Amino acid sequence: MHYQRRPSWALPEAAVTSEHLFLNRRKVLAGMGLGAGLLALPGRGRAEAGVSPLEAAMNPAYADAGRELTSEELSSTYNNFYEFGSSKRISQEAQRLDVNGWTIKIGGMVEEEFEIGFEDLMGRMQMEERIVRHRCVEAWSMVVPWTGFPLSELVKIAKPLSSAKYIKMQTFLDPDVATEQRAAWWPWPYTEGLTMDEAMNELSFMVTGAYGKELHKQFGAPMRLHTPWKYGFKSIKSIDRIEFTDERPLSFWEELADAEYGFWANVNPEVDHPRWSQAEELPLGAEEKIPTLLYNGYAEQVADMYGNLPEEVGERFWR
Ligand code: MTE
Repeated sequence: MHYQRRPSWALPEAAVTSEHLFLNRRKVLAGMGLGAGLLALPGRGRAEAGVSPLEAAMNPAYADAGRELTSEELSSTYNNFYEFGSSKRISQEAQRLDVNGWTIKIGGMVEEEFEIGFEDLMGRMQMEERIVRHRCVEAWSMVVPWTGFPLSELVKIAKPLSSAKYIKMQTFLDPDVATEQRAAWWPWPYTEGLTMDEAMNELSFMVTGAYGKELHKQFGAPMRLHTPWKYGFKSIKSIDRIEFTDERPLSFWEELADAEYGFWANVNPEVDHPRWSQAEELPLGAEEKIPTLLYNGYAEQVADMYGNLPEEVGERFWR
């Protein structure tokens, strides 16, 4: 992973708000007015009220990321998905990914191991939309409207044992589709993990759509994680295996370079990457860098998991 200061493709129309969000913001207002939310609207079905995998109700707590939305054109053509190549231009290659009949294996320290079809899982989830910030460890950032459901809801279905301390997630392994997986020097499959506390945090989100559409393959279809307070590499794509364990999982980047990309990876502008500063970031499409915020601005939701004050936390949670 490395950092490009000013990408040549950055377009001025990056700030345009998409029509679907404009419409969905109106739904947020309607939902807030009702108090009970959109599902309580009399005489309206779930789909009409905006609750479907494709068009979910906006979560009012995450209706505004406080920054301009990144255009779909930019965010979907500048991706990290090393299975399809180590450049940012993998969106075409990623179209080879076949998500039909996708299943997710759930195992390890659970009451009973099982495999669930992606469609079945969707049917059991209450979908919502959230607009959140994403901060890559390479010091670029974006703001994307994701559709999905809280990871905590999936954990409830998985029924982990109380002795499980971590959740480990893995991306598909198929070198015929993802040709970079033929390269043996990468520790495939891509693996990531969270503590159980982190997994149950309201910010941990399973993403199944973006910009009001089914999740783009390059974003990690059909389902990827998003943990907005952590550097982007924690947000593992195209998950097909979830395991509960009492051993801290070794993640893909940690295995490759543990001094640079550790397990915790909480965003902190005061702790530099060994090779560059983390004090600022360049939003995709922007001309100017902006200051990076502690926990990417989500301290209110997550800081108590780490002892609250950065001084108390010390070095340990930043890498
Ligand atoms: N997941 C998989 N399976 N493979 C990857 O290469 N890259 C990570 C993360 N998840 C990656 C992955 C990194 S470094 C980042 S910054 C984000 O995905 C990028 O997500 P985006 O392409 O949606 O912006």
